[in-house]
Amino acid sequence: MKPSILVARAVFPQILTLLEQHFDVTSNQDDVVWSPAQLIAQLQGKQGAFTTGSQRIDAELLKACPDLKICANMAVGYNNFDLDAMTAAGVLATNTPDVLTETTADFGFALMMATARRMAESEHFLRAGLWNSWRYDMFAGSDVHGSTLGILGMGRIGQAIAKRGAHGFGMKVIYHNRSRLDAALEAACGAAYVSKSDLLQQADHLILVLPYSPEAHHAIGAAELAQMKPTATLINIARGGIVDDAALAAALKQGTIAAAGLDVYEGEPKVHPDLLTVPNVVLTPHIASATMPTRMAMAQLAADNLIGYLVHGKPLTPLNPQVVKA
Ligand code: DGY
Repeated sequence: MKPSILVARAVFPQILTLLEQHFDVTSNQDDVVWSPAQLIAQLQGKQGAFTTGSQRIDAELLKACPDLKICANMAVGYNNFDLDAMTAAGVLATNTPDVLTETTADFGFALMMATARRMAESEHFLRAGLWNSWRYDMFAGSDVHGSTLGILGMGRIGQAIAKRGAHGFGMKVIYHNRSRLDAALEAACGAAYVSKSDLLQQADHLILVLPYSPEAHHAIGAAELAQMKPTATLINIARGGIVDDAALAAALKQGTIAAAGLDVYEGEPKVHPDLLTVPNVVLTPHIASATMPTRMAMAQLAADNLIGYLVHGKPLTPLNPQVVKA
Protein backbone atom coordinates (compact mmCIF):
# COMPACT_ATOMS: atom_id res chain seq x y z
CA MET A 1 0.00 0.00 0.00
CA LYS A 2 1.25 3.48 -0.86
CA PRO A 3 1.90 5.87 2.05
CA SER A 4 -0.70 8.63 2.44
CA ILE A 5 0.27 12.28 2.29
CA LEU A 6 -1.42 15.65 2.51
CA VAL A 7 -0.44 18.53 0.21
CA ALA A 8 -1.59 21.38 2.44
CA ARG A 9 -1.68 24.20 -0.13
CA ALA A 10 -2.11 24.43 -3.91
CA VAL A 11 0.95 23.31 -5.86
CA PHE A 12 2.10 22.91 -9.48
CA PRO A 13 0.03 20.16 -11.19
CA GLN A 14 3.25 18.43 -12.35
CA ILE A 15 4.36 18.09 -8.73
CA LEU A 16 1.00 16.57 -7.77
CA THR A 17 1.35 14.08 -10.64
CA LEU A 18 4.81 13.14 -9.39
CA LEU A 19 3.60 12.72 -5.82
CA GLU A 20 0.64 10.59 -6.98
CA GLN A 21 3.10 8.10 -8.50
CA HIS A 22 4.40 7.35 -5.01
CA PHE A 23 1.63 8.25 -2.59
CA ASP A 24 -2.05 8.23 -1.90
CA VAL A 25 -2.41 12.03 -2.12
CA THR A 26 -5.00 14.34 -0.56
CA SER A 27 -4.44 17.80 -1.99
CA ASN A 28 -5.76 21.28 -1.42
CA GLN A 29 -5.78 22.66 -4.97
CA ASP A 30 -8.57 25.07 -3.94
CA ASP A 31 -5.89 26.58 -1.69
CA VAL A 32 -8.07 26.93 1.38
CA VAL A 33 -6.06 28.29 4.31
CA TRP A 34 -7.05 25.78 6.99
CA SER A 35 -7.34 26.57 10.69
CA PRO A 36 -5.11 24.47 13.00
CA ALA A 37 -8.13 22.23 13.80
CA GLN A 38 -8.91 21.74 10.10
CA LEU A 39 -5.26 20.93 9.39
CA ILE A 40 -5.29 18.31 12.16
CA ALA A 41 -8.46 16.79 10.69
CA GLN A 42 -6.92 16.69 7.20
CA LEU A 43 -3.74 15.04 8.53
CA GLN A 44 -5.48 12.06 10.11
CA GLY A 45 -3.95 8.83 8.78
CA LYS A 46 -1.28 10.74 6.80
CA GLN A 47 2.39 9.78 7.01
CA GLY A 48 3.62 12.86 5.18
CA ALA A 49 2.73 16.52 4.74
CA PHE A 50 3.81 18.92 2.00
CA THR A 51 3.67 22.25 3.85
CA THR A 52 4.35 25.93 3.29
CA GLY A 53 5.07 28.65 5.84
CA SER A 54 1.37 29.04 6.54
CA GLN A 55 0.93 25.69 8.36
CA ARG A 56 2.10 25.71 11.97
CA ILE A 57 3.44 22.31 13.05
CA ASP A 58 3.61 22.27 16.83
CA ALA A 59 3.37 19.86 19.79
CA GLU A 60 -0.43 20.03 19.89
CA LEU A 61 -0.77 19.11 16.22
CA LEU A 62 1.86 16.37 16.47
CA LYS A 63 0.06 14.79 19.43
CA ALA A 64 -3.16 14.74 17.43
CA CYS A 65 -1.49 13.26 14.29
CA PRO A 66 0.34 10.14 15.49
CA ASP A 67 0.83 8.70 11.97
CA LEU A 68 2.84 11.69 10.75
CA LYS A 69 6.50 10.92 9.90
CA ILE A 70 7.62 13.92 7.82
CA CYS A 71 6.68 17.53 7.08
CA ALA A 72 8.40 18.83 3.95
CA ASN A 73 8.30 22.63 3.86
CA MET A 74 8.32 24.35 0.48
CA ALA A 75 10.43 27.18 1.92
CA VAL A 76 13.94 27.65 3.20
CA GLY A 77 12.57 29.34 6.33
CA TYR A 78 10.94 27.01 8.83
CA ASN A 79 9.73 29.19 11.67
CA ASN A 80 6.32 27.53 11.19
CA PHE A 81 7.92 24.35 12.58
CA ASP A 82 8.49 23.73 16.27
CA LEU A 83 11.63 21.76 15.48
CA ASP A 84 12.20 20.55 19.05
CA ALA A 85 8.63 19.24 19.26
CA MET A 86 9.01 17.53 15.87
CA THR A 87 12.26 15.89 16.92
CA ALA A 88 10.71 14.76 20.22
CA ALA A 89 7.78 13.28 18.29
CA GLY A 90 10.14 11.55 15.80
CA VAL A 91 8.79 13.61 12.90
CA LEU A 92 11.29 14.62 10.24
CA ALA A 93 11.39 18.25 9.10
CA THR A 94 12.83 19.29 5.74
CA ASN A 95 13.17 22.66 3.97
CA THR A 96 14.34 23.90 0.55
CA PRO A 97 17.78 25.51 0.90
CA ASP A 98 20.04 26.57 -2.00
CA VAL A 99 17.50 26.41 -4.82
CA LEU A 100 16.17 29.89 -4.02
CA THR A 101 19.36 31.67 -2.98
CA GLU A 102 20.14 33.63 -6.15
CA THR A 103 16.50 34.46 -6.94
CA THR A 104 15.93 35.78 -3.43
CA ALA A 105 19.17 37.77 -3.55
CA ASP A 106 18.05 39.31 -6.87
CA PHE A 107 14.81 40.37 -5.22
CA GLY A 108 16.53 41.83 -2.17
CA PHE A 109 18.68 43.90 -4.47
CA ALA A 110 15.70 44.95 -6.60
CA LEU A 111 13.75 46.00 -3.50
CA MET A 112 16.72 47.98 -2.25
CA MET A 113 17.03 49.77 -5.60
CA ALA A 114 13.29 50.43 -5.84
CA THR A 115 13.36 51.85 -2.31
CA ALA A 116 16.47 53.98 -2.77
CA ARG A 117 15.21 55.37 -6.09
CA ARG A 118 11.61 55.84 -4.90
CA MET A 119 10.16 53.78 -7.74
CA ALA A 120 6.82 52.84 -6.15
CA GLU A 121 6.13 56.34 -4.85
CA SER A 122 6.92 57.96 -8.22
CA GLU A 123 4.88 55.38 -10.11
CA HIS A 124 1.82 56.08 -7.93
CA PHE A 125 2.34 59.82 -8.58
CA LEU A 126 2.43 59.26 -12.34
CA ARG A 127 -0.61 56.94 -12.35
CA ALA A 128 -2.54 59.49 -10.31
CA GLY A 129 -2.06 62.00 -13.16
CA LEU A 130 0.04 64.34 -11.01
CA TRP A 131 3.06 64.61 -13.35
CA ASN A 132 2.90 68.02 -15.01
CA SER A 133 6.52 69.02 -15.44
CA TRP A 134 10.15 68.13 -14.74
CA ARG A 135 11.60 69.45 -11.49
CA TYR A 136 15.22 69.37 -10.30
CA ASP A 137 14.50 67.44 -7.11
CA MET A 138 11.50 65.40 -8.19
CA PHE A 139 11.69 62.00 -6.46
CA ALA A 140 15.39 62.47 -5.86
CA GLY A 141 16.47 59.44 -3.84
CA SER A 142 19.80 58.02 -2.78
CA ASP A 143 22.53 56.26 -4.74
CA VAL A 144 23.09 52.54 -4.53
CA HIS A 145 26.41 52.33 -6.41
CA GLY A 146 29.35 53.32 -4.26
CA SER A 147 27.29 53.44 -1.06
CA THR A 148 27.62 51.30 2.07
CA LEU A 149 25.53 48.15 2.04
CA GLY A 150 24.80 46.67 5.46
CA ILE A 151 23.63 43.06 5.77
CA LEU A 152 22.18 41.63 8.98
CA GLY A 153 22.36 37.83 8.75
CA MET A 154 25.08 36.39 6.53
CA GLY A 155 23.85 32.97 5.40
CA ARG A 156 23.65 31.91 1.78
CA ILE A 157 21.27 34.69 0.72
CA GLY A 158 23.19 37.38 2.60
CA GLN A 159 26.39 36.26 0.89
CA ALA A 160 24.76 36.32 -2.55
CA ILE A 161 23.54 39.88 -1.90
CA ALA A 162 26.99 40.92 -0.68
CA LYS A 163 28.59 39.69 -3.92
CA ARG A 164 26.11 41.67 -6.01
CA GLY A 165 26.84 44.82 -4.01
CA ALA A 166 30.61 44.51 -3.79
CA HIS A 167 31.37 43.20 -7.25
CA GLY A 168 28.50 44.64 -9.31
CA PHE A 169 27.82 48.03 -7.76
CA GLY A 170 31.13 48.99 -6.17
CA MET A 171 29.55 49.09 -2.72
CA LYS A 172 31.38 48.93 0.56
CA VAL A 173 29.78 45.86 2.18
CA ILE A 174 29.59 45.41 5.95
CA TYR A 175 27.72 42.67 7.80
CA HIS A 176 26.77 41.42 11.21
CA ASN A 177 25.92 37.81 11.98
CA ARG A 178 25.85 35.48 14.98
CA SER A 179 29.08 33.96 13.72
CA ARG A 180 31.74 35.59 11.60
CA LEU A 181 32.52 34.12 8.15
CA ASP A 182 36.00 32.75 7.62
CA ALA A 183 38.48 35.07 5.93
CA ALA A 184 38.26 33.36 2.51
CA LEU A 185 34.47 33.66 2.43
CA GLU A 186 34.60 37.29 3.58
CA ALA A 187 37.03 38.02 0.74
CA ALA A 188 34.82 36.22 -1.81
CA CYS A 189 31.83 38.28 -0.65
CA GLY A 190 33.86 41.50 -0.44
CA ALA A 191 32.35 41.98 3.02
CA ALA A 192 33.75 43.17 6.38
CA TYR A 193 32.39 42.04 9.76
CA VAL A 194 31.22 44.80 12.13
CA SER A 195 29.24 45.02 15.39
CA LYS A 196 25.48 45.41 15.14
CA SER A 197 25.64 49.04 16.25
CA ASP A 198 28.36 49.87 13.69
CA LEU A 199 26.20 48.19 11.06
CA LEU A 200 23.20 50.32 12.02
CA GLN A 201 25.23 53.53 12.13
CA GLN A 202 27.26 53.07 8.95
CA ALA A 203 24.87 51.42 6.45
CA ASP A 204 23.32 53.56 3.71
CA HIS A 205 21.14 50.57 2.82
CA LEU A 206 20.51 47.89 5.43
CA ILE A 207 19.14 44.53 4.25
CA LEU A 208 17.76 42.00 6.74
CA VAL A 209 18.32 38.36 5.81
CA LEU A 210 18.46 36.62 9.17
CA PRO A 211 16.19 33.68 10.07
CA TYR A 212 13.34 34.34 12.49
CA SER A 213 13.83 33.03 16.01
CA PRO A 214 12.57 34.28 19.38
CA GLU A 215 15.95 36.02 19.83
CA ALA A 216 15.53 37.79 16.47
CA HIS A 217 12.07 39.12 17.41
CA HIS A 218 12.11 42.92 16.93
CA ALA A 219 15.85 42.87 16.21
CA ILE A 220 15.03 46.18 14.52
CA GLY A 221 12.83 48.38 16.73
CA ALA A 222 12.71 52.04 17.69
CA ALA A 223 16.12 51.99 19.42
CA GLU A 224 17.85 50.40 16.40
CA LEU A 225 16.10 52.69 13.89
CA ALA A 226 17.26 55.69 15.92
CA GLN A 227 20.87 54.62 15.38
CA MET A 228 20.51 54.61 11.57
CA LYS A 229 21.33 57.54 9.27
CA PRO A 230 18.37 59.78 8.39
CA THR A 231 19.24 59.12 4.73
CA ALA A 232 19.32 55.33 5.15
CA THR A 233 16.94 52.72 3.77
CA LEU A 234 15.88 49.49 5.49
CA ILE A 235 14.96 46.38 3.48
CA ASN A 236 13.29 43.34 5.07
CA ILE A 237 13.17 40.15 2.99
CA ALA A 238 13.71 37.89 6.02
CA ARG A 239 10.59 37.34 8.13
CA GLY A 240 7.86 39.38 9.70
CA GLY A 241 8.49 39.98 13.39
CA ILE A 242 12.18 40.74 12.91
CA VAL A 243 11.17 44.39 12.45
CA ASP A 244 8.79 46.13 14.85
CA ASP A 245 6.45 47.32 12.07
CA ALA A 246 4.71 49.94 14.24
CA ALA A 247 8.07 51.46 15.21
CA LEU A 248 9.16 51.40 11.57
CA ALA A 249 6.03 53.20 10.39
CA ALA A 250 6.63 55.87 13.06
CA ALA A 251 10.28 56.19 12.01
CA LEU A 252 9.30 56.59 8.36
CA LYS A 253 6.75 59.28 9.25
CA GLN A 254 9.21 61.16 11.46
CA GLY A 255 12.11 60.93 8.98
CA THR A 256 14.27 58.90 11.36
CA ILE A 257 15.25 56.94 8.22
CA ALA A 258 14.54 57.89 4.61
CA ALA A 259 12.63 54.87 3.31
CA ALA A 260 11.95 51.15 3.64
CA GLY A 261 11.26 48.20 1.36
CA LEU A 262 9.29 45.35 2.89
CA ASP A 263 8.42 41.90 1.55
CA VAL A 264 7.44 40.38 4.91
CA TYR A 265 5.27 41.62 7.78
CA GLU A 266 4.31 40.88 11.37
CA GLY A 267 1.06 38.89 11.18
CA GLU A 268 1.08 38.71 7.35
CA PRO A 269 -0.91 38.67 5.15
CA LYS A 270 -2.18 41.52 7.32
CA VAL A 271 -0.04 44.66 7.03
CA HIS A 272 0.23 47.22 9.82
CA PRO A 273 -2.26 49.96 8.81
CA ASP A 274 0.28 52.73 9.43
CA LEU A 275 2.62 51.23 6.83
CA LEU A 276 -0.15 51.51 4.25
CA THR A 277 -0.41 55.26 4.79
CA VAL A 278 3.26 56.28 4.62
CA PRO A 279 4.53 57.06 1.11
CA ASN A 280 8.21 56.25 1.63
CA VAL A 281 7.86 52.49 1.83
CA VAL A 282 7.78 49.94 -0.99
CA LEU A 283 5.47 47.04 -0.06
CA THR A 284 5.46 43.63 -1.75
CA PRO A 285 3.51 40.49 -0.73
CA HIS A 286 6.23 37.98 0.32
CA ILE A 287 7.43 37.25 -3.22
CA ALA A 288 11.23 37.27 -2.85
CA SER A 289 11.57 33.68 -4.11
CA ALA A 290 8.75 33.99 -6.63
CA THR A 291 10.07 33.22 -10.08
CA MET A 292 8.53 30.27 -11.90
CA PRO A 293 11.79 28.27 -12.17
CA THR A 294 12.64 28.83 -8.50
CA ARG A 295 9.17 28.07 -7.16
CA MET A 296 9.20 24.91 -9.29
CA ALA A 297 12.62 23.94 -7.90
CA MET A 298 11.36 24.52 -4.35
CA ALA A 299 8.28 22.38 -4.94
CA GLN A 300 10.41 19.67 -6.57
CA LEU A 301 12.79 19.59 -3.62
CA ALA A 302 9.92 19.38 -1.11
CA ALA A 303 8.43 16.51 -3.14
CA ASP A 304 11.83 14.80 -3.42
CA ASN A 305 12.18 15.00 0.37
CA LEU A 306 8.82 13.23 0.82
CA ILE A 307 9.73 10.56 -1.75
CA GLY A 308 13.29 10.30 -0.43
CA TYR A 309 12.17 9.68 3.13
CA LEU A 310 8.88 7.80 2.90
CA VAL A 311 9.90 5.61 -0.08
CA HIS A 312 13.69 5.26 0.24
CA GLY A 313 14.39 6.26 3.87
CA LYS A 314 16.77 9.04 2.74
CA PRO A 315 15.59 12.68 2.79
CA LEU A 316 17.65 15.21 0.82
CA THR A 317 17.65 18.24 3.10
CA PRO A 318 16.70 17.21 6.66
CA LEU A 319 16.58 19.81 9.44
CA ASN A 320 16.55 17.23 12.25
CA PRO A 321 18.52 14.30 10.73
CA GLN A 322 18.70 12.61 14.13
CA VAL A 323 15.12 11.48 13.49
CA VAL A 324 16.21 9.38 10.49
CA LYS A 325 16.83 5.81 11.60
CA ALA A 326 20.25 4.47 10.58
C1 DGY B 1 11.20 30.95 2.19
O1 DGY B 1 11.58 30.08 1.43
O2 DGY B 1 11.43 30.91 3.40
C2 DGY B 1 10.44 32.07 1.60
O3 DGY B 1 10.21 33.08 2.51
C3 DGY B 1 9.15 31.57 0.99
O4 DGY B 1 8.26 31.31 2.01
